[in-house]
Amino acid sequence: MTKRIEKIAGAVLFALILIVAVDLGVDALDRAITPAPVQVAEAPPAQEAAPTQQAAAAPEGPAPAEPQAAAPPPAEAAPVEASGGIEAVAPDPITPLVAAASVEAGEAGVKICKACHTFDDGGPNRVGPNLHGVVGRDIASVEGFAYSDILKTLPGAWDDEKLDAYLLNPRAAAPGNKMAFAGVKKAEDRAAVIAYLRSISPNAPPLE
Ligand code: HEC
Repeated sequence: MTKRIEKIAGAVLFALILIVAVDLGVDALDRAITPAPVQVAEAPPAQEAAPTQQAAAAPEGPAPAEPQAAAPPPAEAAPVEASGGIEAVAPDPITPLVAAASVEAGEAGVKICKACHTFDDGGPNRVGPNLHGVVGRDIASVEGFAYSDILKTLPGAWDDEKLDAYLLNPRAAAPGNKMAFAGVKKAEDRAAVIAYLRSISPNAPPLE
């Protein structure tokens, strides 16, 4: 009788152990299958997307298998090389901002240009050409100034959009030009500078 009870107890115990073991096994299996949370690097700010992303993407290895893993946003359109003319790199139309801008703010804004440019009527050329009357003036047309070849090949006269593109990023707007100037990054600041340049340009076309 005792033997039988022992047998039954043993069987029950064995069954219990089996259940626990299977459960543990399933757990372990579960853990093995469930992917660890994939760390998605935060997308870098759009402005410096191109360089940062490349650097961040290189050492990452295989892409995360998770379909919902946020892929880094497509690289912000890099400034397009000016092909037909200087407008190619212009962002949003600047004219409404120019119309709203303060000439005084622009006059203060061109202090950084004075290392290279004069702005008074008949002022001399320095590192860069005199900028009196530049709005509405043919690109690269100041007598006696040795412009770069690229500036000389650009068609037309300086207007709001061309100035906007050139002042945003001189190097991108006219690759190979010799204005060694990083550019004015804020649209409002460029608009103020352009408003000031208009104020000293008798031949500037009217604001549209
Ligand atoms: C480090 C010197 C330097 C600074 C600073 C500089 N420029 Fe220039 N800029 C030049 C040179 C040099 C050229 C001629 C470029 C060429 O021929 O490739 C030029 C050309 C220009 C032209 C074209 C003029 C023409 O006759 O076609 C404009 C417009 C202009 N600069 C505006 C500005 C403004 C506005 C600023 C300030 C926000 C500025 N530049 C700051 C050196 C400078």
